[in-house]
Amino acid sequence: MTASPTGPARRVVLVGAGGIAEGSHLPALRDAGVRLVGVVDADAQRAADVAARWGADTSGTDLDAVLAAERPDLAVVATPPVAHRDTVVRCLRAGAWVWCEKPPAVSLAEYDLMAAAESEGGPYVGYVFQHRFGSAARTFREQVRDGSLGRPLVAVCHTLWYRDEEYYAVPWRGNWETEGGGPAMGHGIHQMDLTLSLLGDWHQVTATASTLARDVATEDVSMAVVTMESGALVSVVNSVLSPRQESYLRFDLTDATVEVSHLYGYDNSDWTWTPRPGIDPERAAAWLPGTDLPSSHAAQLTTFLDAMDRGERPPASGADGRRSLELITGLYRSAMTGRPVRRDELGPGDPWYDALDGGGAYRPGTLPTDTPEVVR
Ligand SMILES: NC(=O)c1ccc[n+]([C@@H]2O[C@H](COP(=O)([O-])OP(=O)(O)OC[C@H]3O[C@@H](n4cnc5c(N)ncnc54)[C@H](O)[C@@H]3O)[C@@H](O)[C@H]2O)c1
Repeated sequence: MTASPTGPARRVVLVGAGGIAEGSHLPALRDAGVRLVGVVDADAQRAADVAARWGADTSGTDLDAVLAAERPDLAVVATPPVAHRDTVVRCLRAGAWVWCEKPPAVSLAEYDLMAAAESEGGPYVGYVFQHRFGSAARTFREQVRDGSLGRPLVAVCHTLWYRDEEYYAVPWRGNWETEGGGPAMGHGIHQMDLTLSLLGDWHQVTATASTLARDVATEDVSMAVVTMESGALVSVVNSVLSPRQESYLRFDLTDATVEVSHLYGYDNSDWTWTPRPGIDPERAAAWLPGTDLPSSHAAQLTTFLDAMDRGERPPASGADGRRSLELITGLYRSAMTGRPVRRDELGPGDPWYDALDGGGAYRPGTLPTDTPEVVR
């Protein structure tokens, strides 16, 4: 293991040692020189196997015991969404910074509870939204910020993925209680987070959701029109019913169209910048990103560790980590009530603040116009 730039290697405990942990987190942590000291999983054998494969001394099912024994600097949380809140709060209280998988939590109420367990200067909890951190997204974000492509006017944020019944055989998937929602929450959240990180806050959402083909309690498709605070309009689609899969984002600004088409991760070659007629080609050529850093857990982890080194709030935490969950909450409330929803309506006291089905307002297969009885 290598040491961090500021001292001995960071010590990390992994909580939830399933698919994404072994596929993405553990390789990224190893490559960043972070030392895995403990593995916690609800399945003791799985925790022990992963600990043995990745060289951790401690493993088990008792989170508090592993935290007390290892006193890690960092905890990586990759449990199913329903377990994020308790896990994150316990890790923060034990003094560990936390990097938690998406979706941050199954409701805004849970998000706010986790944020309340942070301390000024750290520990903080940041959330995994790896698609913000590739070089092309960073370059474009800077261009939106400095106005070099003009004003954003129109955007498309489409998550057209395919998940079959076998995917939903995993018990925590497809349920409001354990996953927090359907493809808006589990899949489209990545694209919505990236869009919001580029365009800023949203103002109002009008949406429809339905369960057309999968045997799930949540929706399997949703569509929405979002008005941004800037006035820009965004079309959002979240589907797990689309055999030709694509994550497609498009941004029409006054001087250029910027697009990315990818599936689970991009590099610069997946992005295009198209100038409007009349733009000097030399000016347009300067828009392209210089270096090529693909979007990945590793790319985000670097920024998270830098923030830890400085004792500063990491990107995709606090208000900045909450935005996509706010939009999804508004999307579901609009779909279930048949009415537009403004961002400032989603506070404590609203049923969708506590649960994304509004406390039982969703009926699979129905459309909002069919369900006036759920209007609150
Ligand atoms: N960022 C991404 O691209 C990405 C991709 C896939 C999954 N995810 C997210 O990662 C998380 C995990 O997904 P996965 O596909 O790895 O799931 P998984 O089912 O493969 O793994 C989850 C693991 O957590 C364990 N677990 C369950 N409850 C626990 C608890 N209370 N304490 C400790 N361990 C517990 C399970 O035994 C299992 O080993 C989810 O939040 C999911 O949305 C993110």
